[in-house]
Amino acid sequence: MTPAHVLKPGMLYRGDNVKILKQMPAESVDLVYLDPPFFSNRNYEVIWGDEAEVRSFLDRWSGGIEVYIDWMRDRILELHRVLAPTGSLYLHCDWHASHYLKTMIDEVFGYRNFQNEIVWYYRGGGVSKFRWGRRHDVLLYYTKSHKKGEWTFNVDPVRMEYSPESQERLKYKARSFRGDKVYEGYRPNPLGKHPDDVWSIQPLMPSNRKRLGYPTQKPEDLLKNVILASSNPGDLILDPFCGCGTTLSVAQQTQRDWVGIDISPRAIDVCEDRLKALGIRPEITGMPTTVEDLSSSEMGWHEFQNWVCHQLHATVSVKKSDDYGVDGRMILTHDPIQVKQHQVGRPDVDAFQTAMERAGSDRGVMVGLGFSKQAREEVARARRRKNIEIIFCEAESLLKSEQRQHIVQQLQPGDEQLGIDEILAAMVPKQQIPVEDLIASELRRQRAGAS
Ligand SMILES: C[S@@+](CC[C@H](N)C(=O)[O-])C[C@H]1O[C@@H](n2cnc3c(N)ncnc32)[C@H](O)[C@@H]1O
Repeated sequence: MTPAHVLKPGMLYRGDNVKILKQMPAESVDLVYLDPPFFSNRNYEVIWGDEAEVRSFLDRWSGGIEVYIDWMRDRILELHRVLAPTGSLYLHCDWHASHYLKTMIDEVFGYRNFQNEIVWYYRGGGVSKFRWGRRHDVLLYYTKSHKKGEWTFNVDPVRMEYSPESQERLKYKARSFRGDKVYEGYRPNPLGKHPDDVWSIQPLMPSNRKRLGYPTQKPEDLLKNVILASSNPGDLILDPFCGCGTTLSVAQQTQRDWVGIDISPRAIDVCEDRLKALGIRPEITGMPTTVEDLSSSEMGWHEFQNWVCHQLHATVSVKKSDDYGVDGRMILTHDPIQVKQHQVGRPDVDAFQTAMERAGSDRGVMVGLGFSKQAREEVARARRRKNIEIIFCEAESLLKSEQRQHIVQQLQPGDEQLGIDEILAAMVPKQQIPVEDLIASELRRQRAGAS
């Protein structure tokens, strides 16, 4: 790959965005929307909400906010470089880090290039007895240029209806009051009111049919505002943390070009399905194709587990301790699955047998990067002596679609008949455990271990 020359509209890039952004040419993107992960925040860092993932983010941000801001600065510098002179960037965040992020982005873009702090207000349940309800996220809106008129901003497509009170008032008085001034002859705009920087848009509820199993999925109406106001048809829009592809879907529906990046193979799969539903076959690059990819540091443990379960059309266990150390379950048969990102040895098989016994299962699937002779012998022994069936599945075989299809058919007869909607619906974690609870229990566990 020639540095700074890789950027293909309609492409999904799987990988760490900072590495991919470094390959992209300068001033080539018209609009960036980013919704990055963040620690101790149920809406950001934790995507699938399992224990392994919570542990991995505690490790990642153990250096605190400075580490996070440094991590983000590397990405913002690249995003600033790839943004066209007329371009805009919207960073989506919440109260945990918005003020730290603003200070850092002001340094990169320039204080004068900050245009708005947009408040996304939403309703919802669950408030603390001890403070005001937290009911908004923040979108920090920056432009590459600070000269008025140089950046794209189309207000007409995003105008809102006047409030009933304004409509009533304007019916009788063609006037507008501002402070002491009265503007005679004021006429309301027939296309609607110029929107302000507080947007009241409902988030997707867990029961919403549009939910793709991604707790951090943003509503399309939010992205419509961003895209319609800050780009024109045919422009190129980049989402470097594209998740389940909300930005890409809205860009596609509004005749813009798009590029999506995500480190998670599962996210890229979900984006692909979402775009296919719009009649698009996106090009994809960077998906794991070799055993080395599966064991690389970029493929974190929870990513690997999610990827395996996704390939097997299985559900991922949300909280391991409640599920006796089982990593996932086949959708139709509910057979437990154990995933190992290494060569499976006899102790792994022993532990899985115990987990299966506790879960009351006599058939289970172990996925690993290989299986030792002793592990195979133990499986034969378990079959003979305990009538327990453990099926070994090489992770490598899940890389090849034909082999994968074959494995899934053997494990779940009839599953190949399922459409993507049913599979995605079945993959939505049944039980959403508040991430704050998982963090608290993980911190307690770590402290207990240290003392
Ligand atoms: C909050 S979610 C984005 C949700 C998205 N806005 C949507 O509506 O679906 C953050 C995403 O960032 C991805 N991510 C985390 N670190 C990344 C990295 N270094 N490079 C690329 N993607 C990353 C995660 O896999 C996750 O899908």
